[in-house]
Formats: sequence, C-alpha cells, structure tokens
Amino acid sequence: MEITNPTTTNSEAPKKRIFSAIQPSGNITLGNYLGALKNWISLQDEFDCIFALADLHTITVRQEPAQFRKHALEAYALLLACGIDVKKSLFFLQSHVPAHAQLAWVLDCYTQFGELSRMTQFKDKSKKHADNINAGLFTYPSLMAADILLYQADLVPVGADQTQHLELTRNIATRFNGLYSPTFKIPEGYTMKQGGKIMSLQDPTKKMSKSDENVNGCIYVLDKPEDIMRKFKRAITDSEACVHYGEGKDGINNLMDIYSCVTGKNYQEIEAEFSGRGYGDFKTAVGEAVVEHLRPIQERYAKYSKDKAFLQSCWNESAEKAARIANRTLSKVMRKVGFLPREL
Ligand code: TYM
Repeated sequence: MEITNPTTTNSEAPKKRIFSAIQPSGNITLGNYLGALKNWISLQDEFDCIFALADLHTITVRQEPAQFRKHALEAYALLLACGIDVKKSLFFLQSHVPAHAQLAWVLDCYTQFGELSRMTQFKDKSKKHADNINAGLFTYPSLMAADILLYQADLVPVGADQTQHLELTRNIATRFNGLYSPTFKIPEGYTMKQGGKIMSLQDPTKKMSKSDENVNGCIYVLDKPEDIMRKFKRAITDSEACVHYGEGKDGINNLMDIYSCVTGKNYQEIEAEFSGRGYGDFKTAVGEAVVEHLRPIQERYAKYSKDKAFLQSCWNESAEKAARIANRTLSKVMRKVGFLPREL
C-alpha cells in the first residue's frame, strides 16, 4: 500500500506537526478513545500527524511475551479501525525506531531525580506495582520527552493525565536548548475541552482505566453491545434524579461528557433532551449512543485484525519515514553534546 508523505503541498505553508502515542497494553478503553484517539483522527487533515504505539513504555510493567505481541498487533489494527489513515499520517511502533531509546538515554542525563520523583503517575504506579519499581518506570517521562522532541512536534494531543509529563518535556527541552543553542521545538499540549478526562463508571472521582478493579467501571472499545449497555445501566450517579451538569454530580457529569463526545450535543441540548426524564432513560441513551458510535469501528477492526500483511506494510513504511525525521534530530543532539562522529 502506498503511503504519501504527509508534510506539505507546494502551494501551502508547512502544516503544524502533531505527535502523540498510546500504550498497547491490553484493551483500548473508551477513556483512551474519547480523550485521545478520537481527537487524533479529527486532526489528520489539518496537521502533519505522527502517531506511535508506545510499546517501549509498556515494559515498565512486566509483560508476558506472547500476550504483549498479541496486544501490540491488536492495538495497531484497532487504531487503524478508529480512523488513523496511513495515507495522511505516520503510524508506527516506537520500538521500530531506535532513535527513541537513544535520545531517551541522552535526555535522562538532562533530567533531574527530583523532577522525576514528583511525577504523579510514577507515584501511582509504584504503589500499584510495589514488587517491580524498576528504573524504567522512574525515567518513563524522559522516554516520552524523546518521543515528542525527536519529531520537533508543535502540538501534543493528550488526555489530562499526561499534562504533567508534557510540562516536564517542555522543561527538559528548554534546559537543553539553553545549554547548547536551540535544538528542540518547545511543544504545546492539546487537550480537548470534553473527553480530556473520562471517569470510571463505578467511581467517577477516578479516571477510567484498564486497571480499574471493578470490571463495570471501564468500557473497552471492543466490548460487546450487551456489555456496554450493562455497564452504563450500572453506572454510579446521585440521588437528585435530574440530568444537569453541576458540582457534586461527578457521575452525571461524566455521562454527559461521554454523551456529548459521541453525539456532538452540548450540555444545554442534553439537559433539554432529558428534562423531566429519569436517570434510567439517560443511562440507556448514553449506552445506545456509545454502542452505535463504536459499531463501525468494531466492524473495521474485525477486518483489519485478520490482515497481518497489511498491518505490517503500514507500520514498516511509517517507521522508515519516521526514522528519517527522528535521526536528523538525534544527529544534531549527538553533535551538540560533543560525541565524536564515526566519520570525521
Ligand atoms: P496511555 O496509553 O495511558 O493513554 C493514551 C492516551 O489516552 C489518554 N487517556 C485518557 N483520556 C481521557 N480520559 C481517560 N480516562 C484516559 N485514559 C487515558 C491519555 O491521556 C493519553 O493521551 N505515556 C503515554 C503514551 C505516550 C505518549 C508519548 C503520549 C508515550 N509517549 C508521547 C504523548 C506523547 C501513555 O501511557 O498514555
């Protein structure tokens, strides 16, 4: 399959560049989809988009090799099914472009212990995986900084939980530029107003996450319609029985956010639609809207996931182009730091 270069056309100014990534650990959640993926898809025409499966990040938590391979393949197929178009964007596996790990090592040496210690995700994950608090879990944000900075990205669309890592990326880049002259573009975050933080259906004060202990808290993009309906019907709400957005209504606010993301309706329209109706009706409507939104994605996934040759041709072609861009930044960095080049 031919992939065209997604940079510029002759008559236009260069498009701004976007970089983002997602871990292929297990099933992709509705939180991942609404907080990140859905936005990635919509940005592909306007921006020069580079997307990756962050599989190097995934081994910060122990993986069973056969499952890890299976998850990566499934995640790649699912993201194509969600609408990533390799004719417009690059989409590859992080481990296929060695420059990510190489730059990460260099950036590790420009990132302070204190900065990494303050990362909320590190603190959370250390608690969750107390038997395996490895160095990779600690230096995870400098690998993420390498991902972004290699491509001189202008914008990084992420959910709210990644903004702290992005802030650290900006600090590392600014520090490096200050020491060695401008090398990296300082990236901006790009978080959508709605969907930036989709919460658990069972504890709407916590983000929806695949590590939720309660299976009913998390919707997966590949969940069967009956499972999606069951989970929404059991969603935790409040005792007010009035569909409106407000303080102390975390459960309803979350359902309104989800409904808004999949239908395009704003809060006012949703409040009007469910005025005088109970939470039961609302939960059913949210469930049905999500099922309908995910149906075509699930159908495309069924097709793509069977075609390994197609998937491989997509990621190979993207990785080759990504490596060319990444290696340009990496060589610049190596030269500026003072490494002796192989050829003098
Ligand atoms: P990951 O794989 O945990 O999540 C992928 C994306 O999904 C967003 N997200 C959510 N958004 C809204 N509500 C939720 N409940 C929710 N859960 C997850 C995340 O914010 C993210 O945008 N470290 C990153 C992957 C990564 C990366 C990068 C991202 C590696 N390198 C460079 C951007 C740029 C991660 O683990 O995301």
